[in-house]
Amino acid sequence: MPDCFALRGNVCFASEKRELMTFPRTYVICEDGLCRGVCPELPREYAGIPIEDYGDCLIIPGMVDLHIHAPQFTYRSMGMDCELMEWLRRYAFPEEARYKDLDYAARAYGLFAGKMSSSATTRAVIFGTVHRDATILLMDLMESTGLISFVGKVNMDRNAPDELREESADASAFDTFGFINEANRRGYLRTKPILTPRFIPSCSDALLNELSEVRRAYDLPVQSHLSENPDEVRMVMRLMPDAAFYGDGYDRFGLFGREARTVMAHCIYSTDAEIERIRQNSVWVAHCPNSNMNLASGIAPVRRYLREGIRVGLGSDVAGGQTESMFRAVTDAIQVSKLYWRYVDEKAKPLTFPESFALATRSGGSFFGRVGSFEDGFEFDAVVLDDSVLPVSRPLTLAERLERAFYLGLDQHGIRAKYVRGLAVDRDFGSHHSSSSL
Ligand code: GUN
Ligand code: FE
Repeated sequence: MPDCFALRGNVCFASEKRELMTFPRTYVICEDGLCRGVCPELPREYAGIPIEDYGDCLIIPGMVDLHIHAPQFTYRSMGMDCELMEWLRRYAFPEEARYKDLDYAARAYGLFAGKMSSSATTRAVIFGTVHRDATILLMDLMESTGLISFVGKVNMDRNAPDELREESADASAFDTFGFINEANRRGYLRTKPILTPRFIPSCSDALLNELSEVRRAYDLPVQSHLSENPDEVRMVMRLMPDAAFYGDGYDRFGLFGREARTVMAHCIYSTDAEIERIRQNSVWVAHCPNSNMNLASGIAPVRRYLREGIRVGLGSDVAGGQTESMFRAVTDAIQVSKLYWRYVDEKAKPLTFPESFALATRSGGSFFGRVGSFEDGFEFDAVVLDDSVLPVSRPLTLAERLERAFYLGLDQHGIRAKYVRGLAVDRDFGSHHSSSSL
């Protein structure tokens, strides 16, 4: 007998065309972790299955965060006074160096995992630090949240402070092997390793070359950063003069899409040639508007990416991004697209709410497979939102209620329940796993 249940409520999700589909007081059926579609009445074959009736709540697919740095969670919303390269030097690197200490890592990652479980996020692609053991610890914690994630041990063998820089390309690759083997040995159901060369400024050619072999040997996905900041792009072109453009620097080592499932954060300053390669190689772009504002990085040409059929999802990019809230990412993406349209390109129509909602659900979700919708066959990730705390003076449509829930940040206090691949998540995870003494 398959494991079946249904939720009942006001079901909303984005269609493939990024239009909002809304179904008032509808059932959404889950069978063995997969969605079996929405229906106003339970079909006969599902008669008698357990039903969780969420009344007038909104039920949406879980949020997919395509780019977040777990070790930076501790200093989110601080240190917003400089651009990328100085910000890394002043804030990111010193904090990440602390994760050599496993006690610190346990405390800080406990807080991160707690926040992930209480958030609207059901899937995440996560950077750890260079430290193998701390990153395994992060994977243990993520596994117990019930979320599904990719987690990477960061590689960096140059342009980093001594206490964070790996000794050599060999040492970095060796630790990466160790990390992958340990992750595989632990047999996680929900947590998988991902190759994580931080970005080209911190990875020598020798290291990228070794990682290309690791990738092939284990058929791992890849995450990194691309064309985020003008100084960064100039530095890359100095460090790798033979590369045709920044992304070509990854592609030369087989770390840029094609057979390697790859997500690149930012892609703000991508040239025409780079954009064409992103498309050809089927690289996912993680658009991180909040980070791009905080670090004064700029605005990615998302409308163009969508027009050209490039895969785009959203990322919180904590701690360049000030918050892990993907509701915030959805509204920020819309807002920056309006500034881009007004100031940069009048032909780049601003994103609509349904479009941005689609990016945070099914578009980013495609990095994980069939994820981010309630259509038949998608993995069953759901967030139940109770918006009754928001006062109304007249009846609102479901579309209005959903938009308002995002703009007013209902993920902070209005989540009633969360399901990942059919399993209910304990959203109080944080309270029994971490100390609050940080
Ligand atoms: N590029 C290289 N490392 C980082 C990081 O930690 N955050 C952001 N936003 N960009 C990066
Ligand atoms: Fe980042």
